[in-house]
Formats: sequence, C-alpha cells, structure tokens
Amino acid sequence: MAKKKAVVVGGLGIIGRSIMEAMEKEGGWDIVALSRRKPWFKTSAKFISVDLLDPEDAKDKLKGLTDTTHIFFCALSGGVEAENVAGNLALVENSIGVIAPIAKGLRRVILTQGGKFYGCHLGPHRTPAKESDPRHLPPNFYYDQQDFIAKAQKGQKWDYICVRPEAVVGYAVGIPLNTASIVAHYAIICREMGVPLHFPGPEQAFKIYNKFTDARILGRFQTWVAEHEKASNEAFNITNESGFRWCNIWPWFADYFGVKMGQVMPFNMMTMVGDKGPQWEKIVKRHNLKHNEFDLISWGFGNWNFGRTWDTILEDTKRFQHGFYEVIDMQQSFKDAFDMMRKEKVIP
Ligand SMILES: NC(=O)c1ccc[n+]([C@@H]2O[C@H](COP(=O)([O-])OP(=O)(O)OC[C@H]3O[C@@H](n4cnc5c(N)ncnc54)[C@H](OP(=O)(O)O)[C@@H]3O)[C@@H](O)[C@H]2O)c1
Repeated sequence: MAKKKAVVVGGLGIIGRSIMEAMEKEGGWDIVALSRRKPWFKTSAKFISVDLLDPEDAKDKLKGLTDTTHIFFCALSGGVEAENVAGNLALVENSIGVIAPIAKGLRRVILTQGGKFYGCHLGPHRTPAKESDPRHLPPNFYYDQQDFIAKAQKGQKWDYICVRPEAVVGYAVGIPLNTASIVAHYAIICREMGVPLHFPGPEQAFKIYNKFTDARILGRFQTWVAEHEKASNEAFNITNESGFRWCNIWPWFADYFGVKMGQVMPFNMMTMVGDKGPQWEKIVKRHNLKHNEFDLISWGFGNWNFGRTWDTILEDTKRFQHGFYEVIDMQQSFKDAFDMMRKEKVIP
C-alpha cells in the first residue's frame, strides 16, 4: 500500500506532537509538520517553518505539498480564548485552504476542536456534552474553522472529521497549557518553600467532576479516525472516559511530590506562583535539571483549571460505538506524565 502523507498543522503543540508520535509508532506515514519554530525534540517529521498568519509566506512554503493525503489541524493562535476568531480562522485558511486545492490525492482533514465547542468556557452547560448538541452564540473560533472546512469540502473527494478532546494531560516540554506540568511545578515549589499543597481554587471547583484527555490516547484516536471509513464529516468527543474530582486526586498529588496536603484556599496562581522563578532556578541548579520550564508555564491556565466551578464532561459513547475502545485511568495519566518529567529531568 502506498505511504500516507500527513501534514500536521501545529506540529510543536502538545496535540500535534501526540499525533506525530502515534503515527511514528504505527508506521506507514510520511510526516510533514508546520510551525514557525523548529523542533527541539527528536522526530522523524520534516518541519516547514512557516507563519500561517502570512498568506504569502504560506502559499510559498506549502506549494510543494501536492502529495498530501491527510491534514491534521491542531495549531492555535493567540491563546485559548474562543473569541480569538480572526487569527485562528487565518491559520485554517492559510494551511488547509492552500493545501487542499493542490493535493489531488487528499483523503481527509482532521480538525482538532475541544470542550469549548459546547461552551465549557462560558459557564455551566449541558453535560455530558454530546456531539449532536447545538452551538452557542458566537464568537467561537471552532465554529468559523469548521464552517470554512465544510464549505471547502463541498463537491470534493476528501472529507473531514472534528475531534473534540477536553484538557490534554501528557508529557511535552515547551508547552504553556499543560495541566500536568502546572501541578508538578506548583507542588515542587510548595515543597521547596515548606508550605502545604493548598488547592488554589474555590470549594465548589474542588468538587466538580472532570473528564480530561490523555495526549497518547488522543494521538492514537486521531490516526485511527483518519482511516475510519464510517466517519465522513462527523464529530467525535474523546476523553480518557475515566473521570475525576480534584478533591479525590489532590491528596495523591501531595503524596507523589512529598508535600503536606493543604486545604481549599483560592488565590491567583499568576501572581503567587508565577513569581517563584528565582526559587525554581535554585531547584534547577541543585538537581542539575535539563530544562527550565517555569517561565513558560501559563499560570492563567492554572487559574482556569482550578477555578472552574462547573463540570466538564464529554460523552464518549459515540467513539466506542464506532470502534475506538481505549480508556486510561486518570490518575495513571497524571502519574505517567510526572514520571516522564522526572525521567527527562524537567522536574526533580
Ligand atoms: N491543550 C489542550 O488542553 C486542548 C484541549 C482541548 C482542545 N484543544 C485545542 O487543540 C488545538 C491545539 O491546541 P494545543 O494545546 O496543541 O496548542 P499549542 O500547544 O499552543 O500549539 C499550537 C501550535 O500552533 C503553531 N502555531 C501557532 N501560531 C502559528 C503560526 N502563525 N504559524 C504557524 N504555526 C503556528 C505553534 O507553533 P509555533 O509557535 O512554533 O508557530 C504550535 O505548533 C486548539 O484548537 C486548542 O483549542 C487543546
């Protein structure tokens, strides 16, 4: 069978990397990845440095991608806010909009969306959220991206899939929006400074029910769905299936990092943890760490994760019905990410 040629738009992100890793393990894929920066990790993918907000740069750098069979879109512009429509739509227009017309053998476009599709960023919403749930009032950049792709796809041989994960947990260096990294750095700072591991959000947030998505499952799901025949122009939620409440997992975090369990004590992580760079620098030197991720971390994403007082639950039934059965225990997801961070000397 002829090799498949995947273009991963946003290959340096936590999701792009999980897709590339899954393809590398599976074999049979030629991988091209797009981003402005160059990779700082080992990968077999060929990276093209391109600014997808610049239509001329995109046309010039992507003109050779005529043998593309699959496009995985997982780039993100200007932070996570759903209101960031212009930049995030431009990323789609200047990648899929350029490659699809010249790639005559294109079979499928896979668009990564997320829980924000259902309004999880706005407040309490219908849960478990199902793929068939209606949209909320815009702005929401996922809607504009999907509408652009749906229009471009009309009358073409290729089709598209929307993949909707919740907050992604996994090992990835150089990523600001990474819950595992946020917990690990925060817990180690607490240990260093001799304070208990307080939960930095309100009581209600401590107790809500969450279902997050392991980056490895997400990567394998994306490559699986890329070839799944009965999925044309469909959307799929994908989480670990295993859910959790912070109140149940927090004592285990404290145990794992050897710090005393704290109490519920809401505070702003941006100002009260984000300023602990000098303390972290000492930890890096003392333990001879290979990376210093501290200043990269989005403590605002920490505020969002621990400050949300409503459930986020995506219904996974549809992907099971279609034949993708992988699940992973949520605590295991965090443990594997922490273990890997230790092994790679990102944390002591
Ligand atoms: N992470 C999560 O927990 C999560 C959960 C659910 C849904 N999602 C959704 O999944 C999608 C991907 O998110 P992510 O967290 O993987 O994003 P991310 O880690 O921030 O990665 C974004 C990628 O886009 C590239 N990029 C940004 N601007 C670019 C530009 N102008 N030109 C070329 N490349 C550009 C970045 O590389 P350069 O900076 O080098 O250009 C990077 O490779 C988003 O739609 C997000 O909302 C994420």
